[in-house]
Amino acid sequence: MRDGFGRQITYLRLSITDRCDFRCRYCMPEHGVPKLPREAILSVEECVAAVRAAAACGVTKVRITGGEPLVRRGVLDICAGIRAIPEIRELCLTTNGSRLAELAGPLRQAGVDRLNVSLDTLRPDRFAALTRGGRLQDVLDGIAAAEAAGFPLKLNAVLLGGVNDDEIPALAALTWEKPWQVRFIELMPMGPCAAWPAARFVPAEAVLRACPELQPDGFGGVAERYRFPGAPGSVGLIRPLSHRFCGSCDRLRLTADGKLKPCLHSGAEIPVRGLQGAALEAAVAAAVAAKPAAHHLASGSESGRDMNEIGG
Ligand code: 5AD
Ligand code: SF4
Repeated sequence: MRDGFGRQITYLRLSITDRCDFRCRYCMPEHGVPKLPREAILSVEECVAAVRAAAACGVTKVRITGGEPLVRRGVLDICAGIRAIPEIRELCLTTNGSRLAELAGPLRQAGVDRLNVSLDTLRPDRFAALTRGGRLQDVLDGIAAAEAAGFPLKLNAVLLGGVNDDEIPALAALTWEKPWQVRFIELMPMGPCAAWPAARFVPAEAVLRACPELQPDGFGGVAERYRFPGAPGSVGLIRPLSHRFCGSCDRLRLTADGKLKPCLHSGAEIPVRGLQGAALEAAVAAAVAAKPAAHHLASGSESGRDMNEIGG
């Protein structure tokens, strides 16, 4: 289905929980955020029904997000339910990796095709400080389990000036060893980091300065791709602040409490709770029709929600 600007909408990002076992400093306040009551969260059946309606409107790719999707009981049932929808050709999941060591195999069996794992630092002490208590080794074990389960992997690092920008070469160097994509994401001024000093916001060019051997290698979705000549893996740069990818935006979002968001940074929300069949499909169509031409993130996100509620 096309939106008002001729863009074909084929990609749904489905948040299945607002909860997370980490408290990343750029994402959550120290003591977390008020949790949605359990009954406010879409059930497994409601999640699958929403994806089925989206599929009827032309969606062929789904990414499961959070909060942290692997803390949601029912995540495997949701994955299997989505996998059974014939129009959905690609099922992906973004995770912080903390529970991946035990869940990578079951996720593969449930039909998940690809995983993105957040990995902002390779130093255990930094990792604990940045996530406020997360254990780097759990994530590294999770990545190893995902690799063993046969998942193609992308690792996401948010660029944080003065925090992890000295690790750009070490993170990028993983692509010499593995066929992974290591992606560097510019920090978006949302939630707790909206008021952070300018020095925390590092432009993606810093990656090219730190790794001058990187060669351009086309585009993959929202990432500009680069490669060390001869390396099996690639390096991706993601610049959410530039409007570069609004023009080719193909996505919708559904929050854990059942609101369709036409754009990550717009305040517009279309509720799907209680809707079925044609009414549910009409809600998806309304969300597609409500997609704005571009976001106004440079003057602040108008989302009205924090990242843990939307899932990036
Ligand atoms: N800017 C950029 N990326 C962010 N993420 C969370 N908050 C921000 C932000 N303000 C990322 C996480 C994870 C994904 C779900 O979103 O690091 O990779
Ligand atoms: Fe959790 Fe991801 Fe937010 Fe970190 S960035 S607190 S892992 S939802």
